[in-house]
Amino acid sequence: MDMANPPKTATLSIDGESYDLPIMSPTDGPDVVDIRKLYAQAGVFTYDPGFTSTAACESAITFIDGDKGVLLHRGYPIDQLAAQSHYLEVCYLLLYGELPSPAELEDFENRVTMHTMIHEQMHNFFRGFRRDAHPMATMVGVIGAMSAFYHDSTDINDAWQREVASIRLIAKMPTIAAMAYKYSIGQPFVYPRNDLDYAANFLHMCFSVPAQDYKVDPILSRAMDRIFTLHADHEQNASTSTVRLASSSGANPFACIAAGIACLWGPAHGGANQACLEMLREIGTVDRIPEFIARAKDKNDPFRLMGFGHRVYKNHDPRATVMKESADEVLELLGVDNNPTLQVAKELEKQALADPYFAEKKLFPNVDFYSGIILEAMGFPTSMFTPIFALSRTVGWISQWKEQLSDPALKIGRPRQLYTGEVARDYVEVSKR
Ligand code: SDX
Repeated sequence: MDMANPPKTATLSIDGESYDLPIMSPTDGPDVVDIRKLYAQAGVFTYDPGFTSTAACESAITFIDGDKGVLLHRGYPIDQLAAQSHYLEVCYLLLYGELPSPAELEDFENRVTMHTMIHEQMHNFFRGFRRDAHPMATMVGVIGAMSAFYHDSTDINDAWQREVASIRLIAKMPTIAAMAYKYSIGQPFVYPRNDLDYAANFLHMCFSVPAQDYKVDPILSRAMDRIFTLHADHEQNASTSTVRLASSSGANPFACIAAGIACLWGPAHGGANQACLEMLREIGTVDRIPEFIARAKDKNDPFRLMGFGHRVYKNHDPRATVMKESADEVLELLGVDNNPTLQVAKELEKQALADPYFAEKKLFPNVDFYSGIILEAMGFPTSMFTPIFALSRTVGWISQWKEQLSDPALKIGRPRQLYTGEVARDYVEVSKR
């Protein structure tokens, strides 16, 4: 034992008994109290339904400091990655822990490019959906169905199969998301092209039609790539925790990612950018903004400003700062200042940031507020906003999934509860009730 730095412990006393709980220190962020033996020692559970004070795992992938507005991927600040890197390089960094050499980057990009097509039989799978199905419903179904097509990459105990499944998912998500969009608007599927980079390929698969050529504007593909990068991973958020919990039972990677997509769909999480644009449309005109801000402040009104606030960031969302720059660039390029929805967005941002209520509660525009504006300006329907978030976050889910599988201490996640139901009672015959 290092007597100069003896291990730190926390002491818990219950009914006169004391229990020493080890304290574990991170490379950055708060210490954690190790309660793994608490129930065995003291016969009590801890209670933390929203996991606001609970570290569910050990991870070396992403670090967030909510008070300082810091987001690091493998130690690199998100604003530097957004400005100097690009999505596939960030994917490599998240997956393997270091920035790639030129040769490693070229090999990785080639491997992804060579997996962008999906099994031709899967095209039929899409045809089982209604045309007006939400693309997230299609994505949950199609990604889950990948388990039925790619049997050679479902064995989580085989490192090579884990690697193949990772590349397949990162490579095929844009193709599947674009196909979900095309299917919903009744246009033919567009195959991926190996001569386009990842973001340009996605825009081409979404917006080109057989009847005429579609040239990808470099400013739009750069903004698209930046949206992918800014949504790539975000520590143990709800959908990532869903993927980890699903994977802890040994489920195959496609099933785990489908579970993550389902969780991301919620309007409090990845569905916020769609909910935000729908809210802006409901506000409709700048003169109605005060009415909605008053509703957001009204304790008796469940209405909240979609695209504002964050569970962890209580200062500013560093991704939103970068996303705002892209939003300004795209709006400038597309000259959509006459778009009433986007005018409402800019005025709402100004009024909310000037309102003491939002300042006191540290509610500011988050990443979803600005990404929704960019995607709207690019011409995506709001129903495609969360599928694009899911596409971006796949590498984060996969990186966390791989990290968890390599943890020798991995065991199935099985939380307990605070039971408040009936105590044991005997069954009563229906004739006697
Ligand atoms: C994402 O976890 C992640 O990392 C998620 C994410 C990722 O990359 O994975 O960052 C992506 O999900 C971003 C968040 C997108 N969600 C939204 O934009 C939906 C709108 N935001 C809220 O629903 C809310 O802000 C949450 C869910 C994001 C965070 O809620 P918290 O931290 O649980 O805060 P809370 O609900 O306890 O609210 C604290 C106070 C409350 O007032 P009081 O009861 O204390 O008086 O702030 C108020 C809330 O009423 N409040 C809001 C508000 N959000 C919180 N009031 C008005 N509008 C809002 N948006």
